[in-house]
Amino acid sequence: MRIGILTGGGDCSCLNAAIHGVASSLMNNDNAEVIAIEDSFLGLLERRTRPLTKQDLVGLMRESGTILGTSNKATPFNYEGQNCEAEVMAYCEELGLDGIVALGGDGTMSLCHGLSHHGLKFVGIPKTIDNDLANTDRSFGFDTASHIVAEAIDRLHSTGRSHQRVMILEAMGRYSGWIALYGGVAGEADIILLPEHPYDLEEVARIVQERELQRKHTIIVVAEGALPRGGKQVIRETVKDSPDRVRLGGIGKFLQEQLERRVTSEIRTTVLGHLQRGGPPTAFDRVLATNLGCYAARLVRDNQWGRMACIKDNQFSSVPLEEVANKNRTIPDDEATLLGALECGISFGDGALLERLHKAADGPLKMC
Ligand code: F6P
Repeated sequence: MRIGILTGGGDCSCLNAAIHGVASSLMNNDNAEVIAIEDSFLGLLERRTRPLTKQDLVGLMRESGTILGTSNKATPFNYEGQNCEAEVMAYCEELGLDGIVALGGDGTMSLCHGLSHHGLKFVGIPKTIDNDLANTDRSFGFDTASHIVAEAIDRLHSTGRSHQRVMILEAMGRYSGWIALYGGVAGEADIILLPEHPYDLEEVARIVQERELQRKHTIIVVAEGALPRGGKQVIRETVKDSPDRVRLGGIGKFLQEQLERRVTSEIRTTVLGHLQRGGPPTAFDRVLATNLGCYAARLVRDNQWGRMACIKDNQFSSVPLEEVANKNRTIPDDEATLLGALECGISFGDGALLERLHKAADGPLKMC
């Protein structure tokens, strides 16, 4: 058996651990040859591949990033203005690939789904620090990112408390606020602002003012995709040559400017950015990535092509790629952490949210 492996989209903690899981499992149990495809689909377009050896897989658990390289720009459907599906198919045939394991987010799964119409076989592994891939309760990278946010807040508390300041931390999370929510709860934030629940600026200011009267500092965690009620997300830049053109960023500074007109404390903003994607991954993420990698190897072994490994209600399983392609998963109203945070007194910039969620949550609560 000869299997290609690629990583697509942004890098993420534990991509290497997942590569280790899937490649070792295929090499050890199926005597498979595993071919590294470099820089996502670019490797197929530019004919850049190499065989992976067992030696390549040593020491990967603790290394963030991806030994395969990645790209969030490469698409065979539009490479330098051309549709290159036929060239990609021909190259895969030349390589003698039985199929490809692709580690990526919704964009990568969508490309795999598109190419599978032409006979290429894919198994997907979910990857995103944002934890926003549809049809899986978890993706690796998220736990590490949340941990980094929590640790950053721990550090911001010192300055906030010493100077009685408002400290704003901008976290990643484009269309869903999982990182801000989990990192914010773990770091004891006072206010968390999420894309799922546009915030009321006056409510945020009211809470800060109340805390000022008590001589308390305020920690605000804002997801990069958060937006004020009736307002828009803050776009940092639009990238021309990427299927996903919008890059968010700047909501922290925007919020600071808005709040400065309403409160007396000094305000400082920290943008964590790509610090959330690197460094040593948490043990949980390493184990999750390994398990998802091994599960994907089982899908290959069982000829279950066209599916993505996933985790649902704490069980490993798989879903058709089309059910993941270009879909997002936001924080549902009955998420235990969201409700718990509100009940513990954390504000989400919406005075009526708790009541609304209590009404919505009439079944068992779930985490993640
Ligand atoms: O989707 C993962 C993610 O880290 C987002 O949270 C963030 O908006 C985006 O990627 C950043 O992408 P880039 O590395 O291209 O700036």
